Amino acid sequence: MNITIIGTGYVGLVTGACFADLGNHVSCIDVDRQKLRNIKNLSIPFYEPGLKEIISRNIKESRIQFTHSYSDISESDLIFLCIDTPQGKNGRPDLTNLNSCIDLIVKNLNQSMVIVIKSTVPIGTNAKLLNRLNRDLKKKNVKVSMCANPEFLKEGSAVNDFLRPDRIILGSKDQKVLNLLKALYKPLNRKSNKIIEMTIESAELTKYASNAFLASKISFMNNMAHLAEEVGANIHEIRHGMGADPRIGKDFLYAGIGYGGSCFPKDIKALIEVEKSFGIDPSLLLAVEKINKDQVRFFVKKLLKVYKKNISKKNLLIWGLSFKPNTDDIRDSVAIEVISQLAIKVDKIYIYDPLIKTLPKKLQFFKNIFVNRTQYSNINSTHALVILTEWKQFWDPDLKKLTGLQDMQIFDGRNILDSKTLHDHGFKYHGVGIL
Ligand code: UDX
Repeated sequence: MNITIIGTGYVGLVTGACFADLGNHVSCIDVDRQKLRNIKNLSIPFYEPGLKEIISRNIKESRIQFTHSYSDISESDLIFLCIDTPQGKNGRPDLTNLNSCIDLIVKNLNQSMVIVIKSTVPIGTNAKLLNRLNRDLKKKNVKVSMCANPEFLKEGSAVNDFLRPDRIILGSKDQKVLNLLKALYKPLNRKSNKIIEMTIESAELTKYASNAFLASKISFMNNMAHLAEEVGANIHEIRHGMGADPRIGKDFLYAGIGYGGSCFPKDIKALIEVEKSFGIDPSLLLAVEKINKDQVRFFVKKLLKVYKKNISKKNLLIWGLSFKPNTDDIRDSVAIEVISQLAIKVDKIYIYDPLIKTLPKKLQFFKNIFVNRTQYSNINSTHALVILTEWKQFWDPDLKKLTGLQDMQIFDGRNILDSKTLHDHGFKYHGVGIL
């Protein structure tokens, strides 16, 4: 098929590259010409395992192209909208970019078209956009049909998630549209049927509900971690015990410093606003959000409690800056929040992250933070290690090198190290929900 993807952000680029790899002809549109030039030169604007190789292969085989022009959109069989919807004022998603894109579609579309929305948009947006498009395109005798097809791509495993989806949500009641999308997704739907058809509104809400539920699991475990510390229980054991029940499931039960990233914080806020607008009590989601925010303070307090007045003389080695492993994304990274709170208390901070080698803007204001090139640099001039992102390379550290820490203190914000081993080697270990 001929596919147009509008928006070459995280979702658009992964979607475009993967559809091209499945044999389609894909045209990716973005208003940012510099970004397009970079992508064409294989300088991908973010790190995602496997993505560069797929884009390179499909450029060589002429199945993917990049342009800023909307002039050829009528030649597509389908148009995917993968426009960012950042958090706007009042917690609601800002649809400015999406609306500008709709303006350009109205201007350039000369043939009836199926438009598929991948962007996460407030419930009811798809229906509103559909009305607007059909109203504005009527004079050209062009008709638009729409499908809400939310993405469930996890950063760091987005290519794999796209090519091996757990579910493909198709929000449309138009049989022609559904048939077209089923044909497009056929190569990803062979082993078992992953396609779930529903109304546009259900598809929109499924996306928000999924993210809100996952965030709730994390906040629930973080809340239990507080109690575990008080009663002398271990959150790892509790997670194993709970996760053995298939009704609960094993995933997303990891306590730590909380969730971050470009989706969870924004989507929870948006859902709270939607609930409020319908007079629905948002207490549950407000609690999820509050627990997540408090988790940073809870973790920082551990360190302050250990060092008390001596804190201002201490230097910290910090591992991890990205909001999760396998990505260089620092949007709403909890690590940055923790570092900001620590930087005003301690003497110096040395940060190591496998992918991020420059200090994020939010931290540049601090003159006592330095970026390490390697994982163990400056260890002998630091007192404690603080782990903020669960990168695999931090899971099994070189204990000999770690003995360079002057106070032998380890604060593990992601619960990835084994407390017993560390205690046996003379370290003082502090996890979350582990005594
Ligand atoms: C999320 C959704 O998982 C994905 O389906 C959606 O389409 C986009 O948003 P992503 O933001 O890439 O994906 O990250 P995810 O893997 O879900 O992790 C979010 C945050 O939760 C990270 O900061 C992670 O460290 C944290 N987390 C995750 C926990 O603290 N505990 C857990 O058990 C799992």
